[in-house]
Amino acid sequence: MMKMIFRILLLISFISCVSGSLVVNVTQTHYQAEQNHSITLEWTFTPKPDTSITSVYIICQLVTDLRASVLFHHHEGVEVSESQDQQFSGRVHFDRDELREGRLRLQVSRLRTDDSGRYDCTIRTPDGWNMDVCRLNVTAAVDQHRAQMTVSPEPENVRRTGLYAALMLTAALLFVCVLLLPFFRFVLKK
Ligand SMILES: *[C@@H]1O[C@H](CO)[C@@H](O)[C@H](O)[C@H]1NC(C)=O
Ligand SMILES: *[C@@H]1O[C@H](CO)[C@@H](O)[C@H](O)[C@H]1NC(C)=O
Ligand SMILES: *[C@@H]1O[C@H](CO)[C@@H](O)[C@H](O)[C@H]1NC(C)=O
Repeated sequence: MMKMIFRILLLISFISCVSGSLVVNVTQTHYQAEQNHSITLEWTFTPKPDTSITSVYIICQLVTDLRASVLFHHHEGVEVSESQDQQFSGRVHFDRDELREGRLRLQVSRLRTDDSGRYDCTIRTPDGWNMDVCRLNVTAAVDQHRAQMTVSPEPENVRRTGLYAALMLTAALLFVCVLLLPFFRFVLKK
């Protein structure tokens, strides 16, 4: 029994030692954007790294069903662009002053539909490490041709409706004539 309690205590202290007291949060869990537009994904962490951002280690990646690709890597005060996946090359911008404020804002421009997926950022400071996750959904821009295709059938529909209306009207008139025929006969006979 004591052994088990000891093990649990050891495990708890191990976990708290590993993750420490750093809190990492996303400010938004879901982002929605259109192809070719840009978006800013944001994580906050406390405590702020007041003194120096050289002690802040960051790794952010996109995880899809197919693969994981590095979006952002920050180490010893500099962005490690070599680690970045080619998919994001030249499309990610971050503000280092905001990092001092405990805010990681990554602006991703010229969005592609395959940028959609789960983004996780792991941040480590002398206070510990932690991570949080958000999701991005990039939808394809509306195709100009397809937009026209969906619009064009309308006049045809209107024409067809008009044709039906004319047919119905003719039928109704015929019906009325047939009904009135005996009446006319009656009037004419008199
Ligand atoms: C982070 O999120 C947790 C749970 O949503 C919340 O309790 C906490 O206040 C947040 N911390 C910061 C620093 O935003
Ligand atoms: C992405 O957005 C589109 C359009 O709003 C929606 O139809 C689709 O379900 C969304 N996909 C996910 C995975 O949220
Ligand atoms: C997106 O941008 C690329 C390159 O600038 C352009 O070729 C393409 O037509 C754009 N797509 C849409 C749907 O605007």
